[in-house]
Amino acid sequence: MRGLEGRRVIVTGGASGIGRASVCRLVAEGCTVGIFDRNAAGAEETAALAAGPGRAASYLVDVADHAGVAAALSRFEQDFGPVEGLAHIAGWDRPQLFLETEPSLWDEVVRINLYGTLVMHHVVVRGMAERGAGRVVNVASDAGRVGSSGEAVYAACKGGVIAFTKTLARELAGRGVTLNTLCPGPTETPLFSSFVQDSPFGARLAEGIQRAIPLSRLGQPEDCAGMIAFLLSEDAAYITGQTISVSGGLTMQ
Ligand SMILES: NC(=O)c1ccc[n+]([C@@H]2O[C@H](COP(=O)([O-])OP(=O)(O)OC[C@H]3O[C@@H](n4cnc5c(N)ncnc54)[C@H](O)[C@@H]3O)[C@@H](O)[C@H]2O)c1
Repeated sequence: MRGLEGRRVIVTGGASGIGRASVCRLVAEGCTVGIFDRNAAGAEETAALAAGPGRAASYLVDVADHAGVAAALSRFEQDFGPVEGLAHIAGWDRPQLFLETEPSLWDEVVRINLYGTLVMHHVVVRGMAERGAGRVVNVASDAGRVGSSGEAVYAACKGGVIAFTKTLARELAGRGVTLNTLCPGPTETPLFSSFVQDSPFGARLAEGIQRAIPLSRLGQPEDCAGMIAFLLSEDAAYITGQTISVSGGLTMQ
């Protein structure tokens, strides 16, 4: 893809699943990637797995910790230079029917999925706007477009990520920064396995979902990694404020 070689990109959630596949794809495209994740061992494993021509380095970060994100960004920029792209992929949920949830669960889901998104942009996108160039991809979820039983608060956060991305895309269009949202459908990752395991709808959920997907299979992390690389590249220079599902056709909007 055009313009990716040598690009400096931060990837949150790069220790696992879609984030790990995205780091591997971006390093294969020649990017220098900073992996921001709270799972230090997983992030280091990803950095070791990712095969060049690019490179990856890991930073222990909680995306909802403003000072921690600022410190990690400053270390990345000292190590490699100004950041040019952000793939904000980190996310978390524990499925439960809404009326059975406690506010402590809402706090954690909102902190990671919504507040963490605000923090990442407040810290990382500021420099891009000042320099007049940047590409951002936020990973939300089809739950934020069409709802998902057992994921009410998570879906609310992901809907918030979509609206936030569109708003910043408007605010920053004149400053050379594009922002788009990718909504994965059901994708085989550790998060999806725990969703199926903990779901109030039981273990047959994955089978049922698979039957409903027009392309007849669950997503793989690499299915999203290609779209993330594209949206960070110069091939996507004229695309901003868009929401794109990578879901095997499960949702068509
Ligand atoms: N897998 C799916 O079916 C699916 C569907 C829709 C959306 N998503 C979204 O895709 C993204 C990636 O999910 P995945 O399935 O690869 O999950 P995953 O659990 O495999 O990976 C998530 C990563 O985010 C990191 N993370 C979580 N909270 C963090 C925090 N506070 N600070 C820093 N890092 C943190 C984890 O350590 C982990 O490495 C998430 O935003 C998720 O909501 C996934």
